[in-house]
Amino acid sequence: MKKVIVTGGCGFIGSHTVVELQQKGYTVVIADDLSNSTPSVVENIGRITGEKPILEIVDLSDRTACLRFFKVHSDADAVIHFAAAKAVGESVSKPLHYYRNNIGSLLNVLDAMERSSCRTFVFSSSCTVYGQPDHLPVTEQTPRKPACSPYGNTKQVCEDVLADLVASCRTDKGKGGALSGASWKILSLRYFNPIGAHPSALIGELPNGEPNNLMPYITQTAAGIRPLLKVFGNDYPTPDGTPVRDYIHVCDLAEAHVKAMEYMQENGFEGMDCFNLGTGRGYSVLEVIGSFERVTGIKLAYEIAGRRDGDIAQIWADAGKAERLLGWKARRTLDEMTLSAWKWQENLQKKI
Ligand code: UFG
Repeated sequence: MKKVIVTGGCGFIGSHTVVELQQKGYTVVIADDLSNSTPSVVENIGRITGEKPILEIVDLSDRTACLRFFKVHSDADAVIHFAAAKAVGESVSKPLHYYRNNIGSLLNVLDAMERSSCRTFVFSSSCTVYGQPDHLPVTEQTPRKPACSPYGNTKQVCEDVLADLVASCRTDKGKGGALSGASWKILSLRYFNPIGAHPSALIGELPNGEPNNLMPYITQTAAGIRPLLKVFGNDYPTPDGTPVRDYIHVCDLAEAHVKAMEYMQENGFEGMDCFNLGTGRGYSVLEVIGSFERVTGIKLAYEIAGRRDGDIAQIWADAGKAERLLGWKARRTLDEMTLSAWKWQENLQKKI
């Protein structure tokens, strides 16, 4: 049974990926500092899969702690790296924290991996690297645009770090330089807008304080925690005037991570590649609200407000490359996404 380290495995996408890995027979070790999650996630993963993953509470931006953790788990076969801060707005007010945490952690993890024999690495990137693209849908060849936030910038810089690392190995090999172990195998996965929750309603998105993102804002408004959802702008050049995004079910995303990891291990893959992970279809904010109202039967309190700074009008993925090479395609519908998000919110309410 192969062993996979999942950093940030108690978070939203991380926890769903841990479930998928365990259900495929992998042994999982989570490294998480619990800065934006709770250890109860591990219990709930155990309830879904029948086996609690190992959780090590470690701040990966602390170099000594990171190296110590990886030394203990030097027999891992792959690393899936989710651990990062992810609030776009917060990154504008705390840029140093974002650069230190997101880039620093990546450097520490890669350093630690260089000291082991593990070279298989999956990176959590974002479609934010494309900004507002000139042509839709975006393929992996679509040029990256200057980031709109420190958060977005960390994703771009991290991708550059990974590309430079892979390139340095090639150069080193060319000169006959000796590297400890095999070549790097790195995939950067560019997520579009992950929403939804596991059908068990035992794990899902758990925002800290007032949510920034649309789906948790909708479910918290429906649950009466927030009085009103503000729809940020209806004057965009889109069919109904509200922004369009490629929403993807978090369980589809989790499946993609396992396929990505297996692709690198099974196909003689070397170097680095990027994949868009989306459904290939965009929905407007009003369409997401419409889906939520339809599947739950709840009338949502919302009003049209002004545009939010930094928002783009529309983006959706060409996810054909992931289908061709990874054999992965998003299967779940928008209605499944909004209903599962609501079931998760309802389950949270029961515990209060
Ligand atoms: N929205 C509202 N009201 C809200 C929250 C969001 O109308 O209260 C709208 C936004 O204006 C946007 C859409 O809902 O049009 C989606 O917004 P989210 O905040 O859910 O998602 P974003 O597309 O802004 O951001 C997401 C991730 C980022 C990632 C980015 C890439 O949160 O981490 O996609 O584009 F960088």
